[in-house]
Amino acid sequence: MTSLTASFAKEQPHINTALAEATEALPSSVVHIARYVLGHGGKRLRPLLTVFTARLFGYASDDIYSLAAAMEMFHVATLLHDDVMDNAELRRGQTATHKQYGVTEAILTGDALLAKGNQLIASFGDPRLTEAASDAILRTTAGEIMEIANQGKYLPNLMTYQDIIEGKTAWMIRTSCRVGALRAGVSDELVNLAAEYGYNLGMAFQVVDDILDFAPSSQTGKPKGGDLREGKLTPPIFFYIESLPQAERGQFLAKFSGMSFSEEELAGTVEAIHRQSCDKSWNLADTFLLKAREALTGMTKARQDSPQRVILAELIDHVRNRNA
Ligand code: IPE
Ligand code: IPE
Ligand code: MG
Ligand code: MG
Repeated sequence: MTSLTASFAKEQPHINTALAEATEALPSSVVHIARYVLGHGGKRLRPLLTVFTARLFGYASDDIYSLAAAMEMFHVATLLHDDVMDNAELRRGQTATHKQYGVTEAILTGDALLAKGNQLIASFGDPRLTEAASDAILRTTAGEIMEIANQGKYLPNLMTYQDIIEGKTAWMIRTSCRVGALRAGVSDELVNLAAEYGYNLGMAFQVVDDILDFAPSSQTGKPKGGDLREGKLTPPIFFYIESLPQAERGQFLAKFSGMSFSEEELAGTVEAIHRQSCDKSWNLADTFLLKAREALTGMTKARQDSPQRVILAELIDHVRNRNA
């Protein structure tokens, strides 16, 4: 077993206990819905990052699990809302919450999770943590809105894509590391390096996620080819369009912008993109992973003997090699 797998196994029960406690304290009308989405799967990446970062910097108290649970609550709230906007059928290998309980119920459960997460953060009495949490929620929202505004648009480069994923994904992962460092009380320089590590890990995480969108649902627990259906210009789709001869490109773009592919056309294109092996998309992910590695080197200079140094390094490889 790698140290990463062992540490995941060791920390997850503590995180899950803190999450279960916070879930039971939600308004009774949404508790069962929150249990449904929190109790079934999820990698717990964000809370684990909070715990590992705090421990790397020598923070020993168990109250870190409550801070970590808040980060997972924010994340799950954004997933509930995201699945409504994306009209997704499947999440964490089961029927998406809005399909199971209704759209209104899913949205309100998301709101309750955001509020509860904020309450957990506020209980630390540190305005820097409260500010970091609000900032992360705002950025995520802005990223999601920017994504919707750009649905079906073909742009000449991936700059807008990078702005979108910085908001919708990287900022929350960045914040998960940053709050761990803030709670540990380390210098601004170390807090910034932890944030830099999380940001780049988060950017790579979303690029890899967009590559995995073309992998089977049985592997990812999410709908296959969703990004193509939803008109999202992710790296695999962008590079696929670039590879098309001019005549075919026009036809493809008409359907992409109209989000009007037939199921048969979708299936064919998904297979074609999957077969192309997404080399250029992997290169983009790797540029972010390299930056995460550099930040980690700075952040762990004085922590060579810390087990979390190894875990955070293994996490970089894990983001590259994950299947789901
Ligand atoms: C899903 O995040 C949303 C993205 C940022 C792609 P995760 O892949 O971390 O989802 P869970 O928490 O494991 O379900
Ligand atoms: C990630 O966006 C959602 C958030 C981080 C809010 P996606 O729409 O690409 O994520 P999945 O594929 O549904 O998990
Ligand atoms: Mg989605
Ligand atoms: Mg989305």
